[in-house]
Amino acid sequence: MVKIRYLGHACFTISDRDKTVLIDPFLSNNPLAAQKPDSVKTDLILVTHGHFDHSGDAVTISSRTSAPIYTTFELASRLEALGAKIVGGNHGGSNDFGFAKVKICWAVHSSSFGERLDYAGNPCSFVIDIGGKSIYHAGDPDLFGDMKIIGERHKLDVALLPIGGFFTMDEDDATVAVEYLKPKFVIPMHYNTWPQIKADPLSFKRKVESKTNTKCVVLKPGEEFEV
Ligand code: NI
Ligand code: MN
Repeated sequence: MVKIRYLGHACFTISDRDKTVLIDPFLSNNPLAAQKPDSVKTDLILVTHGHFDHSGDAVTISSRTSAPIYTTFELASRLEALGAKIVGGNHGGSNDFGFAKVKICWAVHSSSFGERLDYAGNPCSFVIDIGGKSIYHAGDPDLFGDMKIIGERHKLDVALLPIGGFFTMDEDDATVAVEYLKPKFVIPMHYNTWPQIKADPLSFKRKVESKTNTKCVVLKPGEEFEV
């Protein structure tokens, strides 16, 4: 049994009994955050790209918890320079952290770090194998055809997909992403944090469940889903 908890925006924790993976921590300055960064417990932090709404609290949480940050090499190097414990990988590679095996996959988006938009390599998505389940966190992508490959290569139990549009896929493209990825469940994310990314998760749910065999689980920040 794996618990997926939504902390708002693109931030989730995924827990298998005693160990927890934290993805894209953006809790300070996030109007919808369900938790303060100083109370999050984690054993591993994954960051899909350098934008502040994904990497924002990674270094402070890593420093407090001693959890390593796993991301692409260039962004990992930037975070290491700020004092974080890092594991720098790259697309196609994976790392076995004992309780979870994580693969870095492609994502069509951009990446930079800090106010000067320093180079941070390419953005990514993750396939996280934990507690016998396979969970995909898409990051911030456009709809891209290689999602079909990710869906064919991994028997996904859950996909976490953005639906807010403006910076990422909207609900219509995310519905096609569900067709490509073929997960058992999809959880929408990256919407309603700001006015530009306003979306209706129930409209997305209706589209997904009428066009695919996937079940859509809508979580409010702070709510969790067991799979
Ligand atoms: Ni982004
Ligand atoms: Mn974003």
